[in-house]
Amino acid sequence: MDQIRIRGGNVLEGVIPISGAKNAALPLMTASLLTSETLTLENVPQLSDIQSLANLLEQHGTQVNITEQKLGQTLKLTTPTITSTTAPYELVRKMRASILVLGPLLARAREAYVSLPGGCAIGTRPVDVHIKGLEAMGTKITLEEGYIHAEAKNGLKGADYLFPVVSVTGTETLLMAAALADGTTRLENAAREPEVSDLANCLNAMGAKISGIGTGTLIIEGVPALHGATHSVLPDRIETGTYAIAAVMTRGDILLQNTNIDLIPISSALLAQSGVQIHAEGENGIRVNAKGCIPQALDVKTEPFPGFATDLQAQWMALLSVSEGAAMVTETIFENRFMHVPELVRMGADITVNGSSAIIRGGQKLKGAPVMATDLRASVSLVLAGLVAEGETTISRVYHLDRGYERLEEKLNSCGADIERVT
Ligand code: UD1
Repeated sequence: MDQIRIRGGNVLEGVIPISGAKNAALPLMTASLLTSETLTLENVPQLSDIQSLANLLEQHGTQVNITEQKLGQTLKLTTPTITSTTAPYELVRKMRASILVLGPLLARAREAYVSLPGGCAIGTRPVDVHIKGLEAMGTKITLEEGYIHAEAKNGLKGADYLFPVVSVTGTETLLMAAALADGTTRLENAAREPEVSDLANCLNAMGAKISGIGTGTLIIEGVPALHGATHSVLPDRIETGTYAIAAVMTRGDILLQNTNIDLIPISSALLAQSGVQIHAEGENGIRVNAKGCIPQALDVKTEPFPGFATDLQAQWMALLSVSEGAAMVTETIFENRFMHVPELVRMGADITVNGSSAIIRGGQKLKGAPVMATDLRASVSLVLAGLVAEGETTISRVYHLDRGYERLEEKLNSCGADIERVT
């Protein structure tokens, strides 16, 4: 099995192009099930999660046409008819986000039989709000042998639904279902993540009538049918934040291209507060200059957007391990999301976990070690630690990284890192 080998200590300098957002591309791909016409998606990252979802869509009757670019790819997705409303366990278990086919299948075919995603390494991650929201829209749902069986024989009806918790994919499920429902749907306490807005904008380009985009209240007037459209996926804010942190940890200077500072409001403000020069450069770039800077440790608490992203929590911990002072990280979105801690500690980090909080005492000299990736963001925190560690770090189970970071080694090497994939 592949491993990533890093020899630490190099200062990163150069330009890193940011890919399209995985978490925007996935719901956008499932939106293609809502129409018989072609949905063209540009700036889709080349990642294993995208391939997994393409396989699932093909199984529902979608014709998938892929044109690869040097970075990213264009997908043309056409579903003349839905040939199967079943999303089988063998495909769904590979990726939790497969649950995103539920809303579109139900809206277009009035029925869906979707495997429950099952357990997940970062907590129990239920899908109850997806189910309750669809029930509010007139769906009959039963759980049968690990599958969600959803039926709306007379079509979906617009409804008011207040999310009891802010859920990103839950909001996306209901947005797509409501787009083709009869009447108006009002979603309160909806997720405000940029990926949700990207989906809503694409649905509007397909003929949907969604207002309130970017706010916690989304109003969707259902329409009888959607048509094809062309949409470019927004930049990946987690990849943006990750490479910004890489620049800071190595005291380097990186221009992040094809991205936008508004996508990382809290982390950019925190980095600036800790002494880093970080600012927009041109319309589509962010300059992160940490030359001669000694980053100061700052507390963070993960929250729904625009708060600090849970998907950047592990990377922030790696940064705190080499910052000056001590700080606390509180995880409020997912339980059990500190699996990177024992591995970071093996590399010399000083971290104490207490429930959903962790204290990180900075100023440590990290040392290279063999470590194991446990989930996508946890793995990249080990890459960041490896970049500044003395000696060699080898990371196993790198398939986690391949789910979410396009051309990771190539992007880091181009800025002077010493990182390679070994088989
Ligand atoms: C999405 C992202 C993931 C990110 C997460 C939080 C995608 C494909 N994945 O995951 O990378 O870490 O948002 O920003 O976009 N919850 C319930 N019931 C539900 C659904 C969620 O209680 O039915 C809870 C979860 O357990 C969690 C919180 O709500 O505590 C947020 O989860 P949610 O926003 O749904 O995460 P995902 O959409 O799965």
